[in-house]
Amino acid sequence: MAIQLGDEAPDFTAETTEGTINFHQYLGDGWGILFSHPADFTPVCTTELGRVAGLKPEFDKRNTKVIAISVDPLEKHEAWAQDIEDVTGNKLNYPLIADPERTVANLYGMIHPNANDTMTVRSVFVVGPDKKVKLTLTYPAATGRDFNEILRVIDSLQLTAKHKVATPADWRQGEDVIITTAVSNEEAAERFPGYETVKPYLRKTQQPA
Ligand code: BEZ
Repeated sequence: MAIQLGDEAPDFTAETTEGTINFHQYLGDGWGILFSHPADFTPVCTTELGRVAGLKPEFDKRNTKVIAISVDPLEKHEAWAQDIEDVTGNKLNYPLIADPERTVANLYGMIHPNANDTMTVRSVFVVGPDKKVKLTLTYPAATGRDFNEILRVIDSLQLTAKHKVATPADWRQGEDVIITTAVSNEEAAERFPGYETVKPYLRKTQQPA
Protein backbone atom coordinates (compact mmCIF):
# COMPACT_ATOMS: atom_id res chain seq x y z
CA MET A 1 0.00 0.00 0.00
CA ALA A 2 1.21 3.51 -0.73
CA ILE A 3 2.85 5.44 2.08
CA GLN A 4 0.37 7.88 3.56
CA LEU A 5 0.68 11.00 5.68
CA GLY A 6 1.12 10.06 9.33
CA ASP A 7 2.74 6.69 8.55
CA GLU A 8 6.15 6.02 10.00
CA ALA A 9 8.75 6.60 7.27
CA PRO A 10 10.11 3.13 6.52
CA ASP A 11 13.67 2.77 7.78
CA PHE A 12 16.46 1.35 5.62
CA THR A 13 20.21 1.11 5.36
CA ALA A 14 21.72 1.90 1.98
CA GLU A 15 24.96 2.70 0.16
CA THR A 16 25.27 6.37 -0.69
CA THR A 17 27.83 8.79 -2.08
CA GLU A 18 28.63 9.57 1.59
CA GLY A 19 29.03 5.94 2.71
CA THR A 20 26.58 3.51 4.25
CA ILE A 21 23.66 5.36 5.83
CA ASN A 22 20.84 4.26 8.07
CA PHE A 23 17.96 6.57 7.22
CA HIS A 24 16.52 7.11 10.69
CA GLN A 25 19.96 7.60 12.23
CA TYR A 26 20.84 10.05 9.48
CA LEU A 27 17.72 12.12 10.25
CA GLY A 28 18.53 12.20 13.96
CA ASP A 29 16.11 14.39 15.92
CA GLY A 30 15.41 16.79 13.07
CA TRP A 31 13.36 16.95 9.90
CA GLY A 32 14.23 15.21 6.65
CA ILE A 33 13.50 15.15 2.96
CA LEU A 34 13.95 12.07 0.77
CA PHE A 35 13.52 12.65 -2.95
CA SER A 36 13.89 10.33 -5.92
CA HIS A 37 15.41 10.67 -9.39
CA PRO A 38 14.46 8.46 -12.33
CA ALA A 39 18.02 7.78 -13.50
CA ASP A 40 21.60 9.09 -13.55
CA PHE A 41 22.92 11.22 -16.40
CA THR A 42 19.48 12.59 -17.23
CA PRO A 43 18.94 16.29 -17.80
CA VAL A 44 16.14 17.24 -15.43
CA CYS A 45 17.67 15.23 -12.57
CA THR A 46 21.01 16.94 -13.09
CA THR A 47 19.43 20.37 -12.66
CA GLU A 48 17.41 19.24 -9.63
CA LEU A 49 20.33 17.74 -7.71
CA GLY A 50 22.41 20.86 -8.31
CA ARG A 51 19.56 23.13 -7.27
CA VAL A 52 19.11 21.29 -3.99
CA ALA A 53 22.88 21.48 -3.37
CA GLY A 54 22.60 25.27 -3.79
CA LEU A 55 19.63 25.35 -1.38
CA LYS A 56 21.38 23.20 1.25
CA PRO A 57 21.94 26.20 3.60
CA GLU A 58 18.16 26.80 3.51
CA PHE A 59 17.47 23.18 4.50
CA ASP A 60 20.14 23.45 7.23
CA LYS A 61 18.44 26.57 8.62
CA ARG A 62 15.27 24.52 8.94
CA ASN A 63 17.09 21.66 10.70
CA THR A 64 16.21 19.46 7.72
CA LYS A 65 18.52 16.74 6.42
CA VAL A 66 18.45 16.12 2.69
CA ILE A 67 18.94 12.73 1.01
CA ALA A 68 18.33 11.79 -2.63
CA ILE A 69 17.97 8.45 -4.37
CA SER A 70 18.51 7.19 -7.90
CA VAL A 71 18.27 3.54 -8.93
CA ASP A 72 21.75 3.45 -10.44
CA PRO A 73 24.92 2.04 -8.86
CA LEU A 74 27.39 4.05 -6.78
CA GLU A 75 30.12 4.21 -9.45
CA LYS A 76 27.65 5.89 -11.79
CA HIS A 77 26.59 8.37 -9.09
CA GLU A 78 30.21 9.29 -8.45
CA ALA A 79 30.84 10.03 -12.13
CA TRP A 80 27.57 11.94 -12.43
CA ALA A 81 28.40 14.14 -9.40
CA GLN A 82 31.05 15.92 -11.45
CA ASP A 83 28.52 16.68 -14.20
CA ILE A 84 26.10 18.08 -11.62
CA GLU A 85 28.79 20.47 -10.42
CA ASP A 86 29.84 21.38 -13.98
CA VAL A 87 26.26 22.13 -15.04
CA THR A 88 24.92 23.91 -11.95
CA GLY A 89 28.06 25.18 -10.24
CA ASN A 90 26.97 23.39 -7.07
CA LYS A 91 28.91 20.47 -5.62
CA LEU A 92 26.77 17.59 -4.37
CA ASN A 93 26.76 18.25 -0.61
CA TYR A 94 24.27 15.65 0.64
CA PRO A 95 24.08 11.87 0.14
CA LEU A 96 22.74 10.28 -3.04
CA ILE A 97 21.53 6.71 -2.42
CA ALA A 98 22.57 4.01 -4.90
CA ASP A 99 19.61 1.66 -5.28
CA PRO A 100 20.34 -0.69 -8.18
CA GLU A 101 18.20 -3.44 -6.61
CA ARG A 102 15.36 -0.92 -6.17
CA THR A 103 15.06 -1.87 -2.51
CA VAL A 104 14.39 1.64 -1.22
CA ALA A 105 12.44 2.61 -4.34
CA ASN A 106 10.05 -0.32 -3.76
CA LEU A 107 9.86 0.28 0.00
CA TYR A 108 8.65 3.82 -0.71
CA GLY A 109 6.48 2.98 -3.75
CA MET A 110 8.61 5.18 -5.99
CA ILE A 111 8.17 2.97 -9.05
CA HIS A 112 4.83 3.44 -10.77
CA PRO A 113 4.76 0.64 -13.38
CA ASN A 114 2.12 2.27 -15.55
CA ALA A 115 4.41 5.29 -15.94
CA ASN A 116 7.68 3.34 -16.19
CA ASP A 117 8.47 -0.09 -14.80
CA THR A 118 12.19 0.45 -14.14
CA MET A 119 12.73 4.11 -13.28
CA THR A 120 11.27 5.90 -10.27
CA VAL A 121 8.89 8.79 -10.56
CA ARG A 122 9.97 12.04 -8.88
CA SER A 123 8.81 11.42 -5.31
CA VAL A 124 9.29 13.69 -2.32
CA PHE A 125 8.79 12.63 1.29
CA VAL A 126 9.12 15.12 4.12
CA VAL A 127 9.67 13.38 7.46
CA GLY A 128 9.18 15.00 10.87
CA PRO A 129 11.32 14.61 14.00
CA ASP A 130 8.89 11.85 15.08
CA LYS A 131 9.85 9.94 11.87
CA LYS A 132 6.29 10.30 10.58
CA VAL A 133 5.65 11.24 6.97
CA LYS A 134 4.40 14.83 6.80
CA LEU A 135 4.23 15.36 3.04
CA THR A 136 4.29 13.23 -0.09
CA LEU A 137 4.59 14.57 -3.62
CA THR A 138 4.71 12.69 -6.92
CA TYR A 139 5.93 14.44 -10.04
CA PRO A 140 6.31 12.94 -13.50
CA ALA A 141 9.78 12.27 -14.88
CA ALA A 142 9.74 15.18 -17.31
CA THR A 143 8.79 17.86 -14.75
CA GLY A 144 11.47 19.27 -12.48
CA ARG A 145 10.29 20.03 -8.97
CA ASP A 146 10.01 23.48 -7.40
CA PHE A 147 12.26 23.19 -4.35
CA ASN A 148 11.21 26.61 -3.09
CA GLU A 149 7.74 25.13 -2.71
CA ILE A 150 9.18 22.28 -0.67
CA LEU A 151 10.94 24.79 1.61
CA ARG A 152 7.67 26.69 1.91
CA VAL A 153 5.85 23.53 2.99
CA ILE A 154 8.55 22.78 5.56
CA ASP A 155 8.11 26.30 6.95
CA SER A 156 4.37 25.72 7.19
CA LEU A 157 4.78 22.29 8.81
CA GLN A 158 7.22 23.69 11.36
CA LEU A 159 4.89 26.60 12.20
CA THR A 160 2.03 24.17 12.75
CA ALA A 161 4.19 21.92 14.93
CA LYS A 162 5.47 24.80 17.06
CA HIS A 163 2.61 27.28 17.24
CA LYS A 164 -0.69 25.51 16.35
CA VAL A 165 -1.19 27.69 13.28
CA ALA A 166 -1.98 26.74 9.69
CA THR A 167 -1.08 28.64 6.52
CA PRO A 168 -3.56 29.92 3.92
CA ALA A 169 -3.47 29.57 0.14
CA ASP A 170 -0.28 30.91 -1.44
CA TRP A 171 1.14 31.83 1.97
CA ARG A 172 4.69 33.15 2.02
CA GLN A 173 7.11 33.72 4.91
CA GLY A 174 6.07 36.73 7.01
CA GLU A 175 2.41 36.76 5.93
CA ASP A 176 -0.51 36.26 8.30
CA VAL A 177 -1.37 32.72 9.36
CA ILE A 178 -4.53 30.94 10.50
CA ILE A 179 -5.16 29.81 14.07
CA THR A 180 -6.03 26.11 13.92
CA THR A 181 -9.46 24.94 15.01
CA ALA A 182 -7.78 22.98 17.83
CA VAL A 183 -7.24 26.31 19.62
CA SER A 184 -10.20 27.70 21.60
CA ASN A 185 -10.98 31.43 21.47
CA GLU A 186 -9.74 31.74 25.06
CA GLU A 187 -6.42 30.10 24.21
CA ALA A 188 -6.20 32.14 21.00
CA ALA A 189 -6.58 35.37 23.00
CA GLU A 190 -3.69 34.31 25.23
CA ARG A 191 -1.41 33.01 22.50
CA PHE A 192 -2.22 35.49 19.75
CA PRO A 193 -3.41 38.78 21.36
CA GLY A 194 -5.33 40.95 18.88
CA TYR A 195 -6.09 38.08 16.49
CA GLU A 196 -8.71 38.77 13.82
CA THR A 197 -11.93 36.76 13.45
CA VAL A 198 -12.83 36.69 9.74
CA LYS A 199 -15.42 33.94 10.31
CA PRO A 200 -15.94 32.00 13.53
CA TYR A 201 -13.90 29.17 11.97
CA LEU A 202 -11.30 31.45 10.30
CA ARG A 203 -9.14 33.41 12.71
CA LYS A 204 -6.02 35.15 11.50
CA THR A 205 -2.92 36.35 13.28
CA GLN A 206 0.58 37.57 12.49
CA GLN A 207 3.09 34.85 11.79
CA PRO A 208 4.61 33.90 15.16
CA ALA A 209 8.39 34.27 15.45
C1 BEZ B 1 15.37 13.77 -16.84
O1 BEZ B 1 15.90 13.81 -15.72
O2 BEZ B 1 15.57 14.63 -17.68
C2 BEZ B 1 14.45 12.65 -17.20
C3 BEZ B 1 14.61 11.42 -16.61
C4 BEZ B 1 13.79 10.39 -17.00
C5 BEZ B 1 12.80 10.61 -17.95
C6 BEZ B 1 12.64 11.86 -18.51
C7 BEZ B 1 13.46 12.90 -18.14
